[in-house]
Amino acid sequence: MKGLILSGGRGTRLRPITHTGPKQLVPVANKPVIQYAIEDLHEAGVTDIGVVLGNVGREAIQEFLGDGSQFGVDITYIVQGNPLGLAHAVGCAEEFVDGDDFVMYLGDNILNDGITELVDSFRDGDYAAGLALQHVDNPSQFGIATVDDDGDITSLVEKPDDPPSDLAIIGVYVFSPAIFDAVAAIEPSARGELEITDAIHLLLEEGGAIDSHVVQGWWKDTGKPEDILSANRLVLDDIDASRDGTIEDGAEVVGQVDMHETAVIESGAVVRGPTSLAADVTVESGTYVGPYTSVGEQSRLANVQISNSVVIGDSDITTDEAIVDSLLGRGTTIGSSAEMLPEGRRLVVGENSKLRL
Ligand code: DAU
Repeated sequence: MKGLILSGGRGTRLRPITHTGPKQLVPVANKPVIQYAIEDLHEAGVTDIGVVLGNVGREAIQEFLGDGSQFGVDITYIVQGNPLGLAHAVGCAEEFVDGDDFVMYLGDNILNDGITELVDSFRDGDYAAGLALQHVDNPSQFGIATVDDDGDITSLVEKPDDPPSDLAIIGVYVFSPAIFDAVAAIEPSARGELEITDAIHLLLEEGGAIDSHVVQGWWKDTGKPEDILSANRLVLDDIDASRDGTIEDGAEVVGQVDMHETAVIESGAVVRGPTSLAADVTVESGTYVGPYTSVGEQSRLANVQISNSVVIGDSDITTDEAIVDSLLGRGTTIGSSAEMLPEGRRLVVGENSKLRL
């Protein structure tokens, strides 16, 4: 069984973060989203992995994943270019898959419980495909399936106005090589994409059995800033407090705080978990961090109170205003203009930024 991680797409809903990098590298609890997919595949015994690249951040993804050896897997890169749909991405991988069964994992999805049960269930039966499903409150925003009493899929529809069930197709699929003929036979949808849901529907029409597995643990599609913050909260809820770094006397550290050995919490600072501090992060005196906050490497926090936020890294946050519910891109500087005249905010803000002052 091979693995295929889709890392194309435009990432428009995560701008401006995705102006300078792919969404699959946005960190959740200080780990890029795509690494969760790699680890889940590895855990399910899938180590021969194709990574489908789009036009955004190709080099950055290759630089981060390399040949995969640091994650115990073997990575082959496949260039899709423009995001013409999930089924188009699958079609681009036909040579890599080379007649095997394969697991397709959307590179911006995170699952709490991994994918082993889905993969094992597919392996144990004679299925054309297997889908991970989850009950959702907003079914019009997803591919939606109906299933029979055995858990076999009976129908599929992409983002329906009138959903036939609340069972969303989430970001992990298992396919037999039969999917390639189906992908070649479908036409673009109304939104102009080759939809994987249409290709799976064709498998069903042709008499193929489609397995399903309803995922019990949480699942997040990290397409929007609020999804990143929510995924960050969910992952941080399960972290172990390593507290490997330096905690000076007089610092107050409460709860689960995951700290790189080079991170420093200075005397007079307060850090409340769950929180993650990456390499070379300094939390200076008079600063409050947490809960549910991840601070990326090489960042300095001083005076600020920050909570429920993700600081991607290389940042200098020294404002004395409170920062909440925020996603701060790499290299962000937020200082204070308290004693400057004229009074007011001083901003240098990139395209498509979102500020609430
Ligand atoms: O998140 C689950 C949903 O994912 C399913 O319920 C839907 O059935 C499925 O169509 C898909 O819907 P989205 O509209 O959320 O897919 P999105 O365009 O966000 O693409 C998902 C991932 O695949 C993302 O990491 C980018 C990557 N991608 C996307 C396209 C369209 C590619 O690599 N190539 C592509 O052409």
